[in-house]
Amino acid sequence: MYTQSFNVPDESGQKQVKPMKASEPPERMARFDACIDADGRIEPQDWMPEAYRKTLVRQISQHAHSEIVGMLPEGNWISRAPSLKRKAILIAKVQDEGGHGLYLYSAAETLGVSRGDLLDALHTGKAKYSSIFNYPTLNWADVGVIGWLVDGAAIMNQIPLCRCSYGPYARAMVRVCKEESFHQRQGYEALLVMMRGTQAQKDMVQDAVNRYWWKCLAMFGPPDADSPNSTQGMRWGIKRISNDDLRQKFIDATVPQAKVLGVTLPDPDLKWNEARGHYDYGQIDWDEFWKTVNGHGPCNKERLATRVKAHNDGAWVREAALAYANKQQQRTLKEAA
Ligand SMILES: [Fe+2]
Ligand SMILES: [Fe+2]
Repeated sequence: MYTQSFNVPDESGQKQVKPMKASEPPERMARFDACIDADGRIEPQDWMPEAYRKTLVRQISQHAHSEIVGMLPEGNWISRAPSLKRKAILIAKVQDEGGHGLYLYSAAETLGVSRGDLLDALHTGKAKYSSIFNYPTLNWADVGVIGWLVDGAAIMNQIPLCRCSYGPYARAMVRVCKEESFHQRQGYEALLVMMRGTQAQKDMVQDAVNRYWWKCLAMFGPPDADSPNSTQGMRWGIKRISNDDLRQKFIDATVPQAKVLGVTLPDPDLKWNEARGHYDYGQIDWDEFWKTVNGHGPCNKERLATRVKAHNDGAWVREAALAYANKQQQRTLKEAA
């Protein structure tokens, strides 16, 4: 899943990140800048400025949290999927999102932070994750719309991240994007089937589109004029395309898909602008976006409570895995002695 540019301010990593130095060592800084200018990759063993590391920790951990919290709204529908086929697809999709979380926590760990601390920041409400997952999934069509629009928006955000300057993040994104593409298609296909069904099914699809459309546009993050961090992210090769440009690409790609599907996108201002060569669109409700990001959306509390319970319920698995790994290590040491 994705970003709201995955880079809104939060307190994740604060404990782990050393305070920024007034000036970084000039020779190392020059080497780092030259690598970025040459579109090279920064690897975990390479020197990097503290602010670059801090930005990546925040972005990658917000991305990882979004993947695992993103399992919850759709996970609610696994037991209620309308057929065995849809259930199997949904289980695979939700499992993929868990896998994306794992690659991303691993990528964050290469920057010297611990997974335990990152999860702690999520569970105590200090860290952010994508605002879209704080809305309820009210009917089966929501699952299709999440695949089509939410995973569709995630792909727009994440394809440029495959060229991110930080090697482990860029490499994780290659596989993630392939899987997101499957997520988007399964959602769209599920909706196509519903749109060939009864009037009640068509109404469910339209209702889900009405509720999710504006929230998906907000996923790309605040307008460029209100995103001061974006310029630095672009300079560092972490961000390649601005929030507004990504949002526009998403709208331009989605309008024809909505036509094929036979749904109306709920924006009276949405129309083709011949001069710009893009679709114009209406105003996004940023007050609602920030309210939700800051913990006051309809499902924020429920999502966090579910995550904390799952983490606590899984403690015995982590303890057992660690005990087994220790036993194996002891055995290897004994054999080597
Ligand atoms: Fe994902
Ligand atoms: Fe996905």
